[in-house]
Amino acid sequence: MTARILDGKQIASEIRAEIARDVAALLEAGGPRPGLAAVLVGDNPASEVYVRNKQRACERAGIDSRLHRLDAAAGDARLLELIEQLNADPTVHGILVQLPLPRGFEERAVLDAVDPLKDVDAFSPENVGLLVQGRPRFLPCTPHGVIQLLHRCQIPVAGRHAVVVGRSEIVGKPMALLLAARDGTCGPEACNATVTLAHSRSENLAEIVRSADIVVAAVGRPQMIRGEMLKPGCTVIDVGINRVGDALVGDVHFEEAAQVAGAITPVPGGVGPLTIAMLLSNTLASARKAVNS
Ligand code: GUN
Repeated sequence: MTARILDGKQIASEIRAEIARDVAALLEAGGPRPGLAAVLVGDNPASEVYVRNKQRACERAGIDSRLHRLDAAAGDARLLELIEQLNADPTVHGILVQLPLPRGFEERAVLDAVDPLKDVDAFSPENVGLLVQGRPRFLPCTPHGVIQLLHRCQIPVAGRHAVVVGRSEIVGKPMALLLAARDGTCGPEACNATVTLAHSRSENLAEIVRSADIVVAAVGRPQMIRGEMLKPGCTVIDVGINRVGDALVGDVHFEEAAQVAGAITPVPGGVGPLTIAMLLSNTLASARKAVNS
């Protein structure tokens, strides 16, 4: 069997076109142009690429994107001061602090300083709490992108067994919540899964993964999920982006997995573009809320 390739790039492009239409409609109705402030600290090359891609996507959708750069030596106080300025700026609807921060920064304190109403990454304790309670303000971008991908590719989720491998705050934990939710932006068929949250310390990981109808790999270990760990015909969503030599590979061994799975996302061109599309969606939602508040 050779798996169907789930084209995240194509789906993200459709979503971005929908957002561009909605931004135009908001402006037409006299609303504000949505504004995203990206904060980039230091000179991590991967972060430079991510932020550039996010900015380009904003511009194409009609969202005002402003980049704020700080030196790695700037220190927490300077970064917190910048966040306070952005919190107070009514033209900024979303604030994105690109992670990881250079060594020496208090990442948690910095993220906690972002106004929850502008926290388009959904990293603040208030927004995580609202998500856990099933009344999210913003949906976390990567997990929401995965749900959109499953929905738009017509992969059934409700009642199926989903195994999330990885328990990070950014992907694994919120992914499990969205898959298990009763309802969501894509309706009840795109959630209501039976969810197992597995991780690097799980015993019998291969057995657990082999029982999954949907596998979401987000462990950050290159090609850790092998073909023999998969149930024939399952859906494999690879969130990993690992640099191995000059190549980018996922957390799934793509060639092996594609022989067993029914559907699989490639790396790159799978989940990554959807993360960006959902960031734009949150920024638009925030601008709309600002009009109504
Ligand atoms: N670094 C890796 N992924 C992300 C993300 O989704 N948001 C931010 N702010 N930084 C990241």
